[in-house]
Order: sequence, then C-alpha cells, then structure tokens
Amino acid sequence: MGTKDSLQPLNPLTDTRGRPMRDLRISVTDRCNFRCTYCMPRSVFDKNYSFLARTQLLSFEEIVRVASVFSTLGVRKIRVTGGEPLLRRNVDKLIGALHQLPDLELTLTTNGVLLPRMAPRLAEAGLKRVTVSLDSLDDATFRRISDVDLSVSDVLAGIDAAKAAGLGPIKVNMVVKRGVNDQQTVDMARHFKGSGHILRFIEYMDVGASNGWRLDDVVPSREVIARINDVFPLEAVEANYHGEVAERWRYRDGSGEIGVISSVTQAFCGTCTRIRLSTEGKLFTCLFAGQGHDLRGPLREGASDADLAALISNVWQQRNDRYSEIRSDNTHDLKRIEMSYIGG
Ligand SMILES: C[S@@+](CC[C@H](N)C(=O)[O-])C[C@H]1O[C@@H](n2cnc3c(N)ncnc32)[C@H](O)[C@@H]1O
Ligand code: SF4
Repeated sequence: MGTKDSLQPLNPLTDTRGRPMRDLRISVTDRCNFRCTYCMPRSVFDKNYSFLARTQLLSFEEIVRVASVFSTLGVRKIRVTGGEPLLRRNVDKLIGALHQLPDLELTLTTNGVLLPRMAPRLAEAGLKRVTVSLDSLDDATFRRISDVDLSVSDVLAGIDAAKAAGLGPIKVNMVVKRGVNDQQTVDMARHFKGSGHILRFIEYMDVGASNGWRLDDVVPSREVIARINDVFPLEAVEANYHGEVAERWRYRDGSGEIGVISSVTQAFCGTCTRIRLSTEGKLFTCLFAGQGHDLRGPLREGASDADLAALISNVWQQRNDRYSEIRSDNTHDLKRIEMSYIGG
C-alpha cells in the first residue's frame, strides 16, 4: 500500500471550468430520524426504500483515509452530513480522527435533536462549528415539514447545547417553501437576531426525485431579504472568501447577520468548489449529478493513496457540471440522486 509520501502534490487541482477543489462533504449515513417532506417524504422513504446495509457503508477508517488523500489534493474544508449524521454510531470518533488531519476546517450539519446528548462529545473530539436545520418556530408548521412527533423546542435545545459546548457561531438553515413556511421568515429573523447565531435562508431545491419539486414553490431569496429589510433594515456584506455559497447581509443596527443561499434563482455553479462523498463511497461532483464514481471498490481492493489521488484528480479534472445554471424544462426529468444519500 502506498504512503502519503508517495503522493505528488497536484495543486492547484482544477476542473474543466477552472474551479479548484476545496470543500468535501461526507455523508455518513443515508438514514434519518426526520422525514422532511422536501427531502425524505414518507410516501417514498417509508415504502420499500432500500437503505444501505452496514457493509455497504464506508467504515470510519476508509472515510479518514479518503479524507486525508483529499487534503493532500487541496481540500481545506470538510462537512460531515447525511441523512442525519448524529445517527451514525460513534460519529464523535470519526470527528476525532478527521480532526487529526492538518489544515482542515471541520463542520457538521444536523437537524439538531440529538445535540443535547452529542454536542459535548463532538466538541471534545475537535469539532469547532455546527449548522443546525430549523424551518419554523411554530410547532404545527415544524411538524408539517419534518413529519416527526417532535417540537421546535427539541431543536432549540440542540442549538443551546451546541452553544454551551462552544460549537459556535452556529449557522441555522431554514429551507423556505412557498405557502408552507414563507410567512415565518421575519419571525425566524426576529428570534435569532442578536443571538450570535447566523440564520440562513435556503431556496427550496429540486434535489432528488421524491419531493415533487415545482418552481412555484421556490421563494426567491431577494423576496426574503426584502421582507426582512422592511422590518429590520439590512445592508450587504462582502463574502468571506471566493466561492462562499451564502450571500451575507447584516442588520444595520449591528445586531448580527443573516445569509441567503439562492441555488435556484442565482446559481453559483461558476464558483462551486465542492465535491461529495456518498455514504457508500461514491464521489459526486454536483448535488444534481445522475451518477457517482466508485471509490469503495478500489479502496477495498488495496488501492494505494497515490492510486486514490489519481482517481480523485481524474474525476475532478473532467468535471464539467453546472446544473443550476442550465436548469430548465429539459433538465427536469434527468435522473437525480436523493440528498439524504449524497449528503446535503
Ligand atoms: C440533507 S440535510 C442533512 C443534514 C441534517 N439531516 C439536516 O437536516 O441538517 C442538509 C441540509 O439540506 C437541506 N435540504 C434538504 N433538502 C433540501 C431541498 N430540497 N432544498 C433545499 N435544501 C434542502 C436541509 O434543510 C439541511 O439544511
Ligand atoms: S433535511 Fe435532514 S433532517 Fe430532514 S429528512 Fe433530510 S436528512 Fe433528515
């Protein structure tokens, strides 16, 4: 088996559109304790849906090995996600091992309800920040979207636990769907304003094939910003770095900032630096990709680190996708992978 010493630094690794590979998202499970209607609707996921068997999942050792190869290829940020990543047994051990890799920013996205139990362990393992998803402060709306018998207070308790464990500033993701929770954007802004947490409004996306997405359900981010600006005046903030997905806005009264992620109305394919490792070890260069590139096979057949690096480099260098920029009636029927599998 090859060693890291045998790897040739290939920086900067760029794709056919000159985009560097910087961010890796790792899905550690395709399962979830929620059934959000825009992600894992019960009508599909509770009916003969084939979740992956344990042997199909990448082991922690395999994930860390792949992540270390990615870091030699220029990846500087890793997000652990899923499905619900806190459902993966001993996920804090994985965080601990990923934390040992040099020069990496490590974060995790969760629906939050397991954070009261997990946040201290995650922080101890080396996690610095979390993103928590919360689509409403109203219990009825929250249940309508997440389709579980839990309350908003369960997620808020998770956010509090993350803060207490030092996993901040916490980003709070709200997917906005017209007619479902779009009337609650100002309430959400009011709640998190001044808290130190950063609320981000996400346009509802046509990921996967199960959520029955329609363009009419999308609330453009500019509409969300206009509504909030009417009540709490805002001003635009410069991006933190090239390729930042969220557009940043700050309250003029100095009480914090919010963000919008406009994947539908203002596609950001041109600066996309993300690659995804699915739960079973397939590489996807786009959230909307129809198929992935298998890494688990080569991993289990004894590929060296140099072999893996060559494979990954090849996938990235051939990357050409820009789905959100060319989204149209013609792309609507393309085969798409579910977000819970590919890693949101
Ligand atoms: C797939 S989830 C995985 C992590 C975790 N279970 C959670 O909900 O935070 C990651 C993010 O994707 C978002 N998401 C899922 N389906 C989406 C869709 N159709 N459009 C926009 N965002 C979506 C979720 O709201 C969440 O913030
Ligand atoms: S968005 Fe997250 S919490 Fe909701 S069903 Fe998907 S994976 Fe689960």
